Amino acid sequence: MWRGDAEKSLVTERLVLRRWRESDKAPFRKLNADARVAAFLRGPLDAVASDAMVERIERHFERNGFGLFAVEVRESGEFAGFIGLSVADFAAAFTPAVEIGWRLAAEHWGKGLATEGAREVLCYGFDEIGLSDVVSFTVPANARSRAVMERLGMSRDPTEDFVHPNVSEGDDLRLHVLYRLEREAWARGVKG
Ligand SMILES: CC(C)(COP(=O)(O)OP(=O)(O)OC[C@H]1O[C@@H](n2cnc3c(N)ncnc32)[C@H](O)[C@@H]1OP(=O)(O)O)[C@@H](O)C(=O)NCCC(=O)NCCS
Repeated sequence: MWRGDAEKSLVTERLVLRRWRESDKAPFRKLNADARVAAFLRGPLDAVASDAMVERIERHFERNGFGLFAVEVRESGEFAGFIGLSVADFAAAFTPAVEIGWRLAAEHWGKGLATEGAREVLCYGFDEIGLSDVVSFTVPANARSRAVMERLGMSRDPTEDFVHPNVSEGDDLRLHVLYRLEREAWARGVKG
């Protein structure tokens, strides 16, 4: 359906977005154990669940040629989290779709890094993979994530809010807001 170049890395002013390395697993465990990071993500992950997520991400790269890139800060070489694309194929009105997503360690918040990396990921997705649109979603209370979506020029239609089928009934984090960005709207915004 959609296909990228699995060996592709992206470089921005402050970041390198690349495939995962074994050495990313330890800082990723730390990030996933942080309650601030997990506030809107159904709780912190333990080490086993964190490593399993890395394996799932890498399998996604192999299957689709694109995925959630490991993020490295150029100046320090430090691992900061992930930013990238993944296929959303759970049962919902808007799926299958390609989702843009991000998760950074809290010490890297508030510097514009998520938006900087995500802008480059959108260029890659639209110009090189040839996507026609990209979605993103989160719980209504995740203001930081929604602010990234809005900075990217994504827009929300409240009639597309949805109940995530993989979140159990009664869980506060079931309801999600959906944001979209079409290639034409992105090109108008980026290329003028
Ligand atoms: C969602 C998440 C990635 C957002 O990170 P973030 O740092 O707030 O987002 P940005 O990279 O866009 O940074 C924007 C902030 O940096 C500030 N900033 C500082 N220097 C900047 C610069 N050079 N350029 C741009 N913005 C800059 C902006 O003013 C803004 O600050 P504000 O939050 O006080 O308004 C982060 O909160 C996170 O990882 N959360 C946990 C995981 C999660 O919930 N993921 C989403 C699941 S759907």
